[in-house]
Amino acid sequence: MDKLLIRGGSVLKGEVAMSGAKNAALPILCASLLSADPLELGNVPQLNDISTMLRLLGDMGIGVRHEGDDGLTLDGSGLNNPVASYEMVKTMRASILVLGPLLARCGEARVSLPGGCAIGARPVDQHIKGLQAMGAEVTVEQGYVHARASRLKGARICTDMVTVTGTENLMMAACLADGETIIENAAREPEVVDLANCLVAMGARISGAGTDIIRIQGVEKLHGARHSIMPDRIETGTYLCAAAVTGGDIRLTRTSAAYLDSVVDKLMDAGCEIVVERDAIRLTAPAKLKSVSLRTAPYPAFPTDMQAQFMAMNCVADGVATIRETIFENRFMHVSELMRLGANIQIEGNNAIVRGVDRLEGATVMATDLRASASLIIAGLVASGETLIDRIYHLDRGYERIEQKLAALGASVERVR
Ligand code: EPU
Repeated sequence: MDKLLIRGGSVLKGEVAMSGAKNAALPILCASLLSADPLELGNVPQLNDISTMLRLLGDMGIGVRHEGDDGLTLDGSGLNNPVASYEMVKTMRASILVLGPLLARCGEARVSLPGGCAIGARPVDQHIKGLQAMGAEVTVEQGYVHARASRLKGARICTDMVTVTGTENLMMAACLADGETIIENAAREPEVVDLANCLVAMGARISGAGTDIIRIQGVEKLHGARHSIMPDRIETGTYLCAAAVTGGDIRLTRTSAAYLDSVVDKLMDAGCEIVVERDAIRLTAPAKLKSVSLRTAPYPAFPTDMQAQFMAMNCVADGVATIRETIFENRFMHVSELMRLGANIQIEGNNAIVRGVDRLEGATVMATDLRASASLIIAGLVASGETLIDRIYHLDRGYERIEQKLAALGASVERVR
C-alpha cells in the first residue's frame, strides 16, 4: 500500500494550477443520467472518486469517452440498468447522487444504502423524504433503496438540515418532474450552483441556486450540453494552508477566491497577506502564524472540508485556538495523529482546543479520511525530520497529482511502498 514520505522544513514558493472541483464534478457526472444526448465536460479532475463514479455510470449503460487530460463526453442514450450496487456505494458515498436522476429518467432506481463512514453516520433520509414528497414509492429492502414513480410530481420540500448532496439529488430529480418543485433550506454551496448551471445548459428551468430556496420547473426532457467544472475551492484552500504553515509565498492559478471568503478571512487573521486576482490567488505567509479559532457550518460559513487543515496550521501557531465542528459528529480523527507529531490538542465534545507548540517532529501517522490526510501533509511539511503518512489512498480520492504539485512548490514529498 502506498505511503507518502515528507521531509519537513522546505518553504513553499512558486506557482501551481488548481484542478476542477471533485464535489462539483461528482453530481455533474450524474446529471448525464438525465438525458439521452451527450454531455461534454471540461476541467474534470483525475481522481479515484471520479473513476469510481465513471465505473458506476458505465455499469448503468452510460457511454464514457475521455478527451485529452481533463475532458469527458458522457452518452446517456444506452442507459438500461438503474442499479447502484453495494460494492460501488460502499467505496464512495457520493454514489447516492444517482438516485434522483435515475428515478426521474427511468421511473425506477435501486441504490444501495450507504453505511456510516469515518467522519460520521451520514444518513440519507432527507434524500428519500424529498423523493417521497415528489410522489415516489420508496422501500428499503436488503440494504437497497428501491424507488419507483412513473413520473415524479413537483412538490414543496423543506429539508430538516442543510444537505449538499441531498439538495443536488432533489434538484436533479425535479428537472424532469411534472410541475414546480421548491426546495427550501437548500444548500448554498458553490458546487450546487455549478450543477444548476450545467442542468440549465441541458435545458432545465432552475432559479434560486446559491440561495436557500431553489425553484425548479420540470420539463419533458433535457438535451446535451457543454460545461466546464468550477475550480476546487477545497484544494485551493489546502494549498494556501500548506504555504502558510511553511512561511511560504505561492500563487495558485486556474482558481478563484470568489468562493473562499471565510477561508481567506481566517488566513488573513492568521497573519497571511493575500492578493486576489481574477483567476488566481497569491499568499505570502508571516514569519510566525497567529492562532485562529473557527466554527464549521454550511456555506457561506467556514467549510468542514477545511477544518482539519486549519487544525494542522494552528498546531504551530502562536496562541490557543478553539475549533468547533458542527457538521459531522466524528470529524476529529486527525487529532490523535497530529498529537503523534507533537501537537497539543484537547477534545471537548465537538470542540478541539489547540495550543500552538514551537515545533512538531516527524513520525509515522495514518490517514483516516481525505481531509485528515491533507492535514497530516500540512503538519509534515513543517515537522522536523521525516513524516511517513500511511493509507494515502484517501488522498488520491480528492487531490489530483498532489506530490507533483507540492514538489513544484519546492516540498520534498515522495510516494513510497
Ligand atoms: N444528513 C442527514 N440526513 C441526510 C443528509 C445529510 O442527517 O439525508 C446530515 C449529515 O449526516 C451531516 C449533515 O447532514 O451531518 C450535512 O451533510 P451533507 O448531506 O451536506 O453532506 P454530503 O452531501 O454527504 C458533501 C460533500 C462533503 C462535505 C459535505 C459538507 C460531496 C460529494 N460531499 O457531503 O465532502 O464535507 O457536503 O459540506 O459533495 C469531502 O470532500 O471530503 C467531503 C466529505
